[in-house]
Amino acid sequence: MKTDKKQYIYIVQASLEPSKCKIGKTNYLERRLNEYNSMTGKSQENFYKFLFTCEVTDMSQVEKDIKDSFSKFREQKNREIYFYNDDLFVDYVSFIKSHKLFIKEMFIKPEKNKKEVKFTQQTTPSLKERGLTQKDLLENAKRIKYDEFYTRYEDVEKEISMYGKEIWKDKVVFCNCDDAFNKNNEKKSSAFAWYFYNHFKELGLKKLICTHFSGTVNLFHDVAEGYIAYIFYTTDGEKIDKQFPKNYTGSFDHPLSLKILNEEADIVCTNPPFSRMKEYWKFVIKSGKKFLIISNISNAVNTAYIHFFKNNQIWAGYNRVDYFQNPKRQLTDASGHWYTNIPIENRPKSKLLKIVPLKNIPEKYKKYDDSKTLIIDGGYIPSNIKKPFAISARPILNGILEKGYKIIQEKRYTPYINGKEGFARVLVQKI
Ligand SMILES: C[S@@+](CC[C@H](N)C(=O)[O-])C[C@H]1O[C@@H](n2cnc3c(N)ncnc32)[C@H](O)[C@@H]1O
Repeated sequence: MKTDKKQYIYIVQASLEPSKCKIGKTNYLERRLNEYNSMTGKSQENFYKFLFTCEVTDMSQVEKDIKDSFSKFREQKNREIYFYNDDLFVDYVSFIKSHKLFIKEMFIKPEKNKKEVKFTQQTTPSLKERGLTQKDLLENAKRIKYDEFYTRYEDVEKEISMYGKEIWKDKVVFCNCDDAFNKNNEKKSSAFAWYFYNHFKELGLKKLICTHFSGTVNLFHDVAEGYIAYIFYTTDGEKIDKQFPKNYTGSFDHPLSLKILNEEADIVCTNPPFSRMKEYWKFVIKSGKKFLIISNISNAVNTAYIHFFKNNQIWAGYNRVDYFQNPKRQLTDASGHWYTNIPIENRPKSKLLKIVPLKNIPEKYKKYDDSKTLIIDGGYIPSNIKKPFAISARPILNGILEKGYKIIQEKRYTPYINGKEGFARVLVQKI
C-alpha cells in the first residue's frame, strides 16, 4: 500500500542468535530497532542491530515478495524469522535490491554505546555467569538451526538408482555426516545408511561405513559419543561392527573420519551440514574420492563454490531435492540438489537447454546490463556469441558445461541494470 510516509524494509539480527534474522517493514527504522531492543533485550550481550535497511515504494508488497521467494528459509510460516548465514544474506539483499520497488539502501549509524539500550529486568543468567562464550552459543545455534534436516529415503533411492550398478561393485561407501545406523530401527538410521544397507548385495558393495555425529564437545555437551559403524559380509554372513572410539565426535573432519575418507573410502555419499558446507566440499574434493552429495541448489552461482564447477571437479547429479524432514520427521521445504564427480551420461536435463542463435532468443530473456554484459534467462543459451554472458545456476545444473561452454570467472557475477542490483549469476563463454 502506498502512503505519504517513507517506507522501509530491514534485516535485523539479535547478537546472540546469529543463525537467524528478521526481515520486516516499517515507516520508522530507529523506532523499530528500539522496540526490538526494549521488548527482547534481556541482557547486555543480546541486542538487535540492523544488517541492512532500504527505502522502497511499497513495503508491504516487497515484504510479501520476500516471503514468497524465501519461504523455504523461514523458520516458521507465521513469523518473520529467516535462517541466516553469509550466503543467504547476500541472496536476501540481492533480491531486495533488484526488486522493482526498491529505491535506495539506507545506512543507519550504529549505536555508539550498546549499553544505552534499555533493558528489561534480567531474567536469564548472562553468558559470563554461565561460563560460556559467544562462540559456544554460535556453534550450538548454527548446528541446531541449520543442520538438523534429514534426507528422505525416496530422494536417496531416486538419485542412486540413476547410476549404473557397476560403479558400486566392490566399493567401500562412506556416509560421513551423521549417517547413524541401527540395524533394528530404520528410524534411527539415516536414509543413506538404510538405503545402502538394504541394497548392499544388489550393488555388490564391499563395505559400508557410516558415522554418527554426536556434536561438538563443548560446555553444553561434554562427552563425545560419535561412532563408526562398519557393515560388511564375511563367509559367516553379515557383520556389523559399531565402534565408539574415545573422544570421537563423528565430525567429518575428525582425524579418524578423515583417515577413513582418505585411506579406505571409495565413494562418499551424504547430505552434509549446511553450516559447514564450504569446508565439507573442500575436504571431499581434496580427497580425490568419488562422491554423491546433497547441497544447496544455488551453489553454482556462489563464489565459494564456482571454482569447483569451473575446474570440472564437481557437477550436478540428476535430481533436485525439494523436501527434507525435520527432527520430528515432518516434511519441510528444501532447496537442495545432488552434486557429484561421477560421470553422468546423456544427462536428461540437458534437453531443457535451448541452445539457439541470439536472434532466436525472445527479447524478454536477453538483456544487457550497465557494463554491456549480456544476461540470458529462460533456459536459453546463445549458440553464436563469442563474448562472455551471464546465466543463473539452472543451466549449469542442466549441463551447459558439458555442451561446449566454460565458466570464465570464479567470482559470482552481479549484474546492475540502471544501477539496480540483479540476481547473482555466473559468467560463461563458448569454448
Ligand atoms: C543435513 S543433515 C543430514 C543428516 C543425514 N546425513 C541425512 O542425510 O539425513 C546434516 C547432519 O550433519 C550433522 N553434522 C553437523 N556438523 C557435523 C560435522 N562436523 N560432521 C558430521 N556431521 C555433522 C548434523 O548434526 C546433521 O545431522
